[in-house]
Formats: sequence, C-alpha cells, structure tokens
Amino acid sequence: MTRAVCPGSFDPVTHGHLDIIQRTTRLADQVIVAVGDNMAKNGLFTPQERVAMLEAACAEWDNVSVTLFKGLLVDFCTANDVGLISKGVRAADFAYEVQMAQMNRRLTGVDTILLPTDPQWAFVSSSLVREVATLGGDVSGFLPPAVAEQAAARVSAQLVED
Ligand code: PNS
Repeated sequence: MTRAVCPGSFDPVTHGHLDIIQRTTRLADQVIVAVGDNMAKNGLFTPQERVAMLEAACAEWDNVSVTLFKGLLVDFCTANDVGLISKGVRAADFAYEVQMAQMNRRLTGVDTILLPTDPQWAFVSSSLVREVATLGGDVSGFLPPAVAEQAAARVSAQLVED
C-alpha cells in the first residue's frame, strides 16, 4: 500500500492545493494532508482552522485524511509510515522545491514527487491570496466557497480590530 503526504501551510487552502491533493489520490492508496504547525504570527488562520477547512474541502475523497504536524517532515513520514511526499510546483518555486526534495531524501530516503501546478492556478499562492484579501480584493475565484467566506470574515474582523 502506498501512503503519500501532501504537506503545506495551507493558509488558506486554495484550488491549486486541492488540485494537487486530488491528483495525489490517483497516485497513492492513502493521502495524508499535513498542515505545518509553524506558528507564523502573520497567519490568516490558525493551524487548527486550516485543518478544519481542509477536512471539509477534502471530504469527497475517501482516501484523504488531514492532520497537523510539527517538526521535520521526514520525521512525520517515518512516524506515519509515509513513503512518498507529493507537492505542487510552480516554475518560480522549482529550484527550492528540488532542494527540499533532495534534503528530505538525504535525511531518511523518503522520495518526493513534484506535480506541475495546473496552468489555471499557476499564479495562485496562499501568500498572494492573503495579501489581496487583506487589501480588500476579491479572492473568491481561488478558494473553495466556504474558505472564501471565512477569509472575508477574518479580514473584516481584523480591520475592526485595527
Ligand atoms: O505551503 P508551504 O509553506 O510551502 O509548506 C512548507 C512546508 C510546511 C511543507 C515545509 O516548510 C516543511 O516541510 N516544513 C517542515 C520542516 C522541515 O521538514 N524542514 C526541512 C525541509 S527540507
């Protein structure tokens, strides 16, 4: 049985992420979406909120589960019997993604597949979505509807706080 992990920050999960997760469901028997608990202070959503949003967004795929992880990704893979890391890659990220894949393979032997981002999402990143949303732009085209609603609500709440 092949078990793969799709790791990321997912702040917030985008259609680009979901495309990679769905494509990974065809390459592995089980897929674990692992949300890095990196404690970024400028995050839009807490790690727990990201997990809940991903669980809802991935509910239609029976072989996908979602969890938090802390520490090294390779240690998560070893502890959870994961044999494959699956990540989306945009042209601009390619060099860094290859570097991380090589480091992870060197650390424990776990291999990575880099799936080219679908061209329709090639310009979408969580960080750009956060920036556009925070400055009042419409990001609903890049996010699952429930996530877009929560992002709009969070941005409004932050504006009231400030
Ligand atoms: O969505 P992101 O921010 O590109 O996700 C990055 C993530 C969480 C996959 C990456 O930072 C990671 O693997 N973090 C865990 C710490 C780790 O293993 N670092 C060494 C990487 S070679």
